[in-house]
Amino acid sequence: MSETARIILNGQEYELPVIEGSEGEKAIDISKLRGMTGYITLDSGFKNTGSTKSAITFLDGEKGILRYRGYPIEQLAEKASFLEVAYLLMYGELPNADQLSYFTDSITHHTLVHEDMRRFFEAFPTDAHPMGILSSMISSLSTFYPESQNPNRPFKDIELTIHRLIAKLPTLAAQAYKNNLGHPLTYPDNKLSYTENFLNMMFGLPSNDYTIDPIVNDALNKLLILHADHEQNCSASTVRIVGSSQANLYSSISAGIAALWGPLHGGANQAVIEMLETIREDGSGLQTWVDKAKDKTDSFRLMGFGHRVYKNFDPRAKIIKKAADDVLAALGVNDPVLDIAKELEEVALKDEYFVARGLYPNVDFYSGIIYRALGIPTEMFTVMFAIGRLPGWIAQWKEMIENGDPIGRPRQIYTGANARDYVPVENR
Ligand code: MLT
Repeated sequence: MSETARIILNGQEYELPVIEGSEGEKAIDISKLRGMTGYITLDSGFKNTGSTKSAITFLDGEKGILRYRGYPIEQLAEKASFLEVAYLLMYGELPNADQLSYFTDSITHHTLVHEDMRRFFEAFPTDAHPMGILSSMISSLSTFYPESQNPNRPFKDIELTIHRLIAKLPTLAAQAYKNNLGHPLTYPDNKLSYTENFLNMMFGLPSNDYTIDPIVNDALNKLLILHADHEQNCSASTVRIVGSSQANLYSSISAGIAALWGPLHGGANQAVIEMLETIREDGSGLQTWVDKAKDKTDSFRLMGFGHRVYKNFDPRAKIIKKAADDVLAALGVNDPVLDIAKELEEVALKDEYFVARGLYPNVDFYSGIIYRALGIPTEMFTVMFAIGRLPGWIAQWKEMIENGDPIGRPRQIYTGANARDYVPVENR
């Protein structure tokens, strides 16, 4: 007999179904609660509320488990390419050789963006944050491909939109960077892999013979894989709820980019380096700042530590930590900011105050370090997160459409003024 939950309201007992997922997670299905009882539930931030059923990503915050379509993140980060993982997340299975070849070829041949978009870049202030540029540019793609606006479009059009997004986001990101520098654009090179092409567009110039360091390329591939999806995080939930109104995929992804920009979400990796630079410039020493972080009367908090879902450790952080150590050693990077990072990491891993509160270095702490070591500019860190997260956002949007999920429309508990009559201004 399937499990049920019983609640008693005003002396009356109600029974609600319990559902169980493939990994033993359980939920009380309250979809009929209001109709049965007149009551709704309240859960600000949805920390106890599931918004959907999903077969894409499984994570266990207590055990530090993260799997994409059942494959452990540790294996994918070590053995797969980012495009393989993107395919896995969006289509449900690892691609065979023919599928990977077709997917890679299609992505490679959609990397160019319409030359008319150059005018948009020129219209932004030279110091415009690339996340603001990217969110605008991605939304504007829906105007260059108006067929994407049709909610009843045939699947082949959705697949073309998916390939265009995966292909063009790195191009737009690199062009935003070059535009801010006032440097000439480096166009996509179809002879290069996805990650090599991005590095070349970012750092290649007609005047330099930029060579792609395989260590940097491998680290970038790993970083993009580790950021590819994370179940119903803030930006993925944003993509789902925007898409649930039948808004087109470009607009839904643009909304996801906007949500990711926040320092409490994807902006945390940029905030980590800015915090480390503040500590270095202050010069009073790391301990001063550690004490400030512990002082409840001080507003300073350490960025890049702990996680709202992982209680003991973030499995992605363990992988990135090793990659960061390898890259720093291999590239012989000598950076005082990164020296402070290593000191702070040591404190956080040993100091009882941080250990007791689960304030261990998280994925944003180490990704900020490794992006800096790879030569990625600080304002581009969250852009890197967006490039990695794009296939996850698309997979979540696609699953929402395929499952026929309804438009997202949460309820509320009203706490404002009760009914009252209008008073003319002269009598107020
Ligand atoms: C993410 O990967 O999206 C972040 O860890 C935030 C989250 O999952 O809530």
